[in-house]
Amino acid sequence: MESNILQISEVLSGDHVDNEVSIRGWIHRTRSSGKIAFVTIRDSSGIIQTVTEKVNVDEDDFKDARKGLVESSVMLTGLVHEDARAPGGFELSVSKFRVINFAEKYPITRDQSEEFLRENRHLWLRSRKLTSIMKVRSTITGAIHDFFRGRGYYEFTPPILTPSACEGGATLFEVKYFDNVTYLTQSWQLYAEAAIFALEKIYDVAPTFRAEKSKTSRHLTEFWMAEMEAAWAGYREVSEIGKDEIKFIINEVLERNRPELEFLGGNISELEAMVDDQWPTITYTEALDMLSKRSGVDIRWGKDLRTIEEDKLMEHFETPVVVIQYPKEVMAFYKPVEEEADASVPGPVAKCFDMLAPKGYGELIGGSERDTDVKSLIAALENEGENVSNYEWYLDLRRYGSIQHSGYGLGVERLVSWICNLENIKDSIPFPRTLTRFTP
Ligand code: 4AD
Ligand code: MG
Repeated sequence: MESNILQISEVLSGDHVDNEVSIRGWIHRTRSSGKIAFVTIRDSSGIIQTVTEKVNVDEDDFKDARKGLVESSVMLTGLVHEDARAPGGFELSVSKFRVINFAEKYPITRDQSEEFLRENRHLWLRSRKLTSIMKVRSTITGAIHDFFRGRGYYEFTPPILTPSACEGGATLFEVKYFDNVTYLTQSWQLYAEAAIFALEKIYDVAPTFRAEKSKTSRHLTEFWMAEMEAAWAGYREVSEIGKDEIKFIINEVLERNRPELEFLGGNISELEAMVDDQWPTITYTEALDMLSKRSGVDIRWGKDLRTIEEDKLMEHFETPVVVIQYPKEVMAFYKPVEEEADASVPGPVAKCFDMLAPKGYGELIGGSERDTDVKSLIAALENEGENVSNYEWYLDLRRYGSIQHSGYGLGVERLVSWICNLENIKDSIPFPRTLTRFTP
């Protein structure tokens, strides 16, 4: 029986009509009458309808076909028929129906609350929705590796336990470390800055942690960041690499995951149009001007953009937008002053950028050039209330052959959410961690 086991997608390809094949998977739906059982089976590749007639199989097989509840694991053998009425256009006429494990009554039925589904995430992962999302996610992380490796970057893996903050002490997760404490990483950046002196062009995709108290549809406490750091590069140059990276990823998803995007209600034609478009770069000051003139939202120059303001701004764009030169005073300690900003700008701005996604998906990328001046770094660290002695090793990087360098971090879940058109970032990661959830 185990010869010629096919994936369901292979059966649905139409290459096996009138052949006897075996499939294995899980019961998706089931319905039977006295003499016939209709059981749809799913595996990782698709769903197929099967028909088991009492006259065609052993008595025990027929009993099992009727008895097997949803999510029972099975292996079936049968003849493939073309049938326009069947979902996928093909059907299996079963000659052998073997149940590997009879499932108990499955707790997940239709119309259950999001909370119930998250509580049962270990089972809900099997749903078509989450399976589709996880497939797109796999394409996205694979594409990140391909993009950077194809451009001569090395993968560099940072430590996850770190003694100090990169993005401000307020969101650090503390970890007991024998008789000491350490923290879960907020970004690979400080370590990446050490590594560019050896490898020059590096990237990674790694878990990242932030004790975010915000309960939004965009924040997780554990998420994956895809970061890059490049020697000899300025912030504007790497912001263009960011645009290319995301276009490359979208192309890969369009090539590999059309069925998933269709199922999830992703806007395929918009994505297709976007990869051929120019994505704008504007300054923070221009963004404020646009918000004031076109959205009637007035923000004091010097304040960071909040989520609602980013959303308002993005109402005026169809593609992602890079916003450069935010006010220095609200930026992290390592972002240097841009001396060449427009003279009309009211205060000092930083050599930094964010990339914002359309349609309220928020900030996809945050990046900058890195300050190479020891004195101004110390002043900025003191200003943030950090203990400068924890950063001595980082300052050393400026003492031995310092050079211009820049990098950025891409939020993997933000990108998955946007491409898959998800309502909540929690569905972009298999087991979400948030302020209120860290199980299962
Ligand atoms: O803008 P952020 O904080 O940038 C940094 O951490 C830099 N050190 C990166 C670098 O230059 N190497 O974070 C980068 C991105 C954000 O743009 C966002 O997409 C994502 O990480 N992100 C989150 N995603 C989900 N949940 C959260 N709590 C996130 N915080 C940031
Ligand atoms: Mg940011």
